[in-house]
Formats: sequence, C-alpha cells, structure tokens
Amino acid sequence: MSIQNLAELTRGDFPLLDNKSASQHKLIYFDHAATSQKPKDVINALTNYYSHYNANVHRGAHQLSARATESFEGAREITANFVKANSSREIIFTRNASESINLVARSWGEENIREGDEILLTIMEHHSNIVPWQILAKKTGCKLRFAELTVDGELDIEDFLSKLSHRTKLVSLVHISNSLGCCNPIQEVVSIARKFDTLILLDACQSLAHRAIDVASLDVDFLVGSSHKLCGPTGIGFLWSREELLDQMPPFLGGGEMIQEVFLDQSSWSNLPHKFEAGTPAIAEAIGMGVAIKYLENLGFEKIQDWEKTLTTHLFDSLESVEGIKIYGPSINRQPNRGSLASFTIDGVHVNDLAELLDTRGICIRSGHHCCQPLHRYYGIPGTARASLSFTSTIEEINYFKDELISIVDFLKAQI
Ligand code: ALA
Repeated sequence: MSIQNLAELTRGDFPLLDNKSASQHKLIYFDHAATSQKPKDVINALTNYYSHYNANVHRGAHQLSARATESFEGAREITANFVKANSSREIIFTRNASESINLVARSWGEENIREGDEILLTIMEHHSNIVPWQILAKKTGCKLRFAELTVDGELDIEDFLSKLSHRTKLVSLVHISNSLGCCNPIQEVVSIARKFDTLILLDACQSLAHRAIDVASLDVDFLVGSSHKLCGPTGIGFLWSREELLDQMPPFLGGGEMIQEVFLDQSSWSNLPHKFEAGTPAIAEAIGMGVAIKYLENLGFEKIQDWEKTLTTHLFDSLESVEGIKIYGPSINRQPNRGSLASFTIDGVHVNDLAELLDTRGICIRSGHHCCQPLHRYYGIPGTARASLSFTSTIEEINYFKDELISIVDFLKAQI
C-alpha cells in the first residue's frame, strides 16, 4: 500500500502553520518535540467549553456542571482507551509528565524506597526523569544509577543489565528520547527488569503522538504523558498505573476534590482517580486533550508512522550531506522505528547561531541541551541543534531547511 502524504491531508487543520514568520517568510515549524501545534478541533473545544458550559466539575447540581463533568470524565475515558488501560480509574490527570513523575516519586517513592535501594535511570533522560529521583534520593538515601549508551547513541543493554540487581526497586526510562530520537527496546528492558522484581516507569512523552501505545503489552507499571506534545493544550498531562498499585499509594497533594470526609484532625480519601487530583482541575485542557487524542486516532497511527518515517528518512539523507555535521542518536537505517527528529552539531559553528539565523528565514528549530544536560555532558558538548517533525511536515520544508542550513553554515564559516 502506498504511503499517504498526511501533510496534504492535515495542513488545513492547523491554523498556526499557515502563518508567515516574523521575517515574512513562509513559517516552517520544526520544533514539534518541544511542543506540537494544535488542530482547529482542539482550539474549538476550548472556545466551546468557555463559551457554552464553563462550570466546575463534580460539584454543582446544575446543568452546566453536569455537562462539564461529563466532558471532563469523557476525556479521561478517551485517554484510558488511548493507552488501553483497564479502566478510567487508572488515569490520573496531572499538569504534565513532570508532575506525573513527581507524583510517583513522592507518593510511591517515599512509601517504598529506603536507604540502600537503587533506582536505575539512563544517561539520556530528560531532567523531568532525573530531578524528582534526586530529590527522593536526598530524602531516603537511595542510590541513583545510570545506564550508558552505545557508540550508535542507543541504550547500552549490557550496561543496563550490569547495573540491575535485587537492590533496584524501579527502572525509569524514556520511550523515545527527545534528544537522540532513539526508541528504547522496552520489551527487552521489561523482560530483564522483571527478573529482579523491579517496577518500571515509562516516559512516553515523545512517543504518544507518533505510535500506538498499549500499556498491557508494554507490561510497564507507570506511564506518563503530556497533552501539549500530542496536539492538545498545555497544562494537562496524565499518569497511568495499575489500579491495585495506585490504590496502595498515598495521596500526592491534599485539598478539595481528593477527600471523602474531612474532620479537624483527620481526613479520608476519595476513590481513584480523584484521590490524586486535589483542587479544581484543568477542565478545558483535559477536554482539549481528549479531542486531540481523537484527532490522532482518526488519522491512524500506522499512517502517522509511515509518513513520519518517510520524512525522517529524507531528513537524515538531507542532513548527512551537510559538511562537518554530526548527528547524535541512531541513523534511520540503523533504527527504522526511531523518532522523527535529528539533533546535530556542525564543526566550527555554534548551534545557537544556527537556530537564530534559521529563524530569520522562517524556520523554527530548537538549540541547546533540550532539558538533557547530563546527556550533553556525556558527549562533552554544550548543546545540539534539533529539527523535530510531525505528520504535518513536508518534503519541501525539509529541502528548504537543508538549503538554508548550508547557506547559513557557509556564511558563518566565512566570518571566521
Ligand atoms: N522536552 C521538551 C523538548 O524536548 C521541552 O524540547
């Protein structure tokens, strides 16, 4: 079957991508890994909520509250089906993936981790999957260990295995790295980790918009995601875990919504998922995330993967011809299921200069450490330039990006 050009199909749905850049160039947005653009359906869902049924959830007897609650809980159902959870009680709404990881570290971690225990992470983790564990380590005296990388910029499974032991209480790692773009072999990681009775947390921020995720077949214990990376609004994310595990975990934050009864000296907790959702939640945002998920599901993840693979192959072919370039992470030939992004440096050129000059030509990429300072330190570099694509990207945009990149590199080198 031929691969469908999803950019042709979807571009009209994304109003922002029709804008001109500040320099009056056609706008090319290659920063989808930082945050995705939003389809009209999602933008309209937010306007619709605020225009027609803005009310607090779970509280009011009135019609607006009932409608808001129905849509909000409907978004939870959509999210549960999206990751193939057993029930919507297994979906905890949070502000973002960072908060989801902090929830696990504070709630599960403080209850279950003791001095002498170990948590195994990887060198490629985003700060959101390092710092909460450092805070936990400081409180409990547990030790953090970090699996390293192969020369191809993939997880070194041998090193990972050598750092696992019966002291390891949790393995927490990223599915697709936001910097290297590698897709980690979760099945292998899980089958090794299970031999040591270790729990596994998967950071799926960079994979949820790009491939179908099924928590049962992944066989992990916690999975975190962020709406704004999957075409939804900012300010909402989620934690998935098994009901029996969540049931055993104490609340993360205290306040309204998460209680059953409150006395002056003690309180009891609400059932799942509300036990973990203190205060008025991000109602419009949750509804918007549900709409974003539906949008992706309607497009179809097989089609998304096929088109993004075509784009990524073209991105790699284009970049590999640039003189002095070094791309970090596995090539598309080595890892055909890798993420649709490329992080790179070019000899003699500062990555921030590249990003700034590309911006003057209408191209948005990210430069810096991408919230992965330990990874960049591991490579002995301050940062990389990163072009990250989505199904809305086109071959023509990649060609323009490559031509402008070469012209900018020539210009910068002529200044030396
Ligand atoms: N994690 C986001 C990125 O990779 C912010 O750009």
